[in-house]
Amino acid sequence: MKAWRVHANGEPREVMRLEEVPDPQPGPGQLLLRVRAANVNFPDALLCRGHYQVRPPLPFTPGVEICGEVLAAGDGAAGEVGARVLAQPPLPDGGFAELAVVDAATVRPAPEALDDAEAAALHIGYQTGWFGLHRRARLRAGETLLVHAAAGGVGSAAVQLGKAAGAQVIGVVGGADKARTARELGCDLVLDRRSDDLVAAVKEATGGRGADVVYDPVGGDAYAKSVKCIAFEGRIVVVGFAGGSIPSPALNHALVKNYAILGLHWGLYNTKDPAAVDACHEELTKLAAQGVIKPLIGGRVPLAEAAEAVQRVADGTSVGRLVVVPGAEATR
Ligand SMILES: NC(=O)c1ccc[n+]([C@@H]2O[C@H](COP(=O)([O-])OP(=O)(O)OC[C@H]3O[C@@H](n4cnc5c(N)ncnc54)[C@H](OP(=O)(O)O)[C@@H]3O)[C@@H](O)[C@H]2O)c1
Repeated sequence: MKAWRVHANGEPREVMRLEEVPDPQPGPGQLLLRVRAANVNFPDALLCRGHYQVRPPLPFTPGVEICGEVLAAGDGAAGEVGARVLAQPPLPDGGFAELAVVDAATVRPAPEALDDAEAAALHIGYQTGWFGLHRRARLRAGETLLVHAAAGGVGSAAVQLGKAAGAQVIGVVGGADKARTARELGCDLVLDRRSDDLVAAVKEATGGRGADVVYDPVGGDAYAKSVKCIAFEGRIVVVGFAGGSIPSPALNHALVKNYAILGLHWGLYNTKDPAAVDACHEELTKLAAQGVIKPLIGGRVPLAEAAEAVQRVADGTSVGRLVVVPGAEATR
């Protein structure tokens, strides 16, 4: 089969190579999947650069979530041949490939309401949004939610989930194209981090109160601005550091303004509370069937263009999710 492999760390377009490798075989408890769609996540870029919290042995295949079709089951593995499933192929053998092997216990049914690319983009981004907004921040209807990188992968999911929860959503983006996307997603107010005075605009929009919940996948300057426009008893959810710098919060500031800084590592719930992850998948499937959420696909690219797609996400120029669809014609 064909698979992208990383032999040395560096920029995605320089270090990802499309190679012919032996077809993988499912072991006991495993399923062999044909990759129908593999979603690009920011961590794919960090993995290429060697900057992710996990450093798989070289060479490895990036691609942390897919929609696949079951081709075969190993000994003792429950799985119906032909079923369409969501899965997270374990590194070093990720999803930017024609085939993937995954533990049968970790696959979930792909929602019927979503096509392959949308389904591939449902899991990590929306689960992270759900746990961040509901479990960590306890977002309530009528509250104001500020989402950084609102036109991005996890950001666009948080916007949709925030609207579904009855919040007023302020989206912060970089540039006019992304601002248009954020408005189309349903943001009540969109701010361009490059040209707008974010702090003043949030205060004006909230009658001086500030945002009740901030969802921050960016860090750096985004975090610095958030603490200046967070409401009394507000909650800042620390989701990631796509901007490249990790803020050092001033705890005296959190004390005098009565706000909470909440860390979120969604992946931990898979071991700490797997039942909650299952319940969340059911809820997300229901919301997708009702049309309340629908992953924003910024482009579908064939397997041969995966490295360019990962580079665009690394450079911060992508909108929504870019999805690798092996064999598909590119649409951007
Ligand atoms: N905590 C968790 O459990 C969890 C789970 C999933 C993802 N994450 C994290 O969430 C973050 C977002 O992931 P994603 O896959 O959804 O990516 P993404 O939001 O689609 O892309 C990153 C966005 O960050 C913004 N950005 C600001 N400065 C940037 C810079 N210097 N370089 C690149 N981007 C920059 C850009 O949007 P604007 O130009 O609009 O600002 C860009 O589109 C990542 O840090 C990821 O690791 C965390």
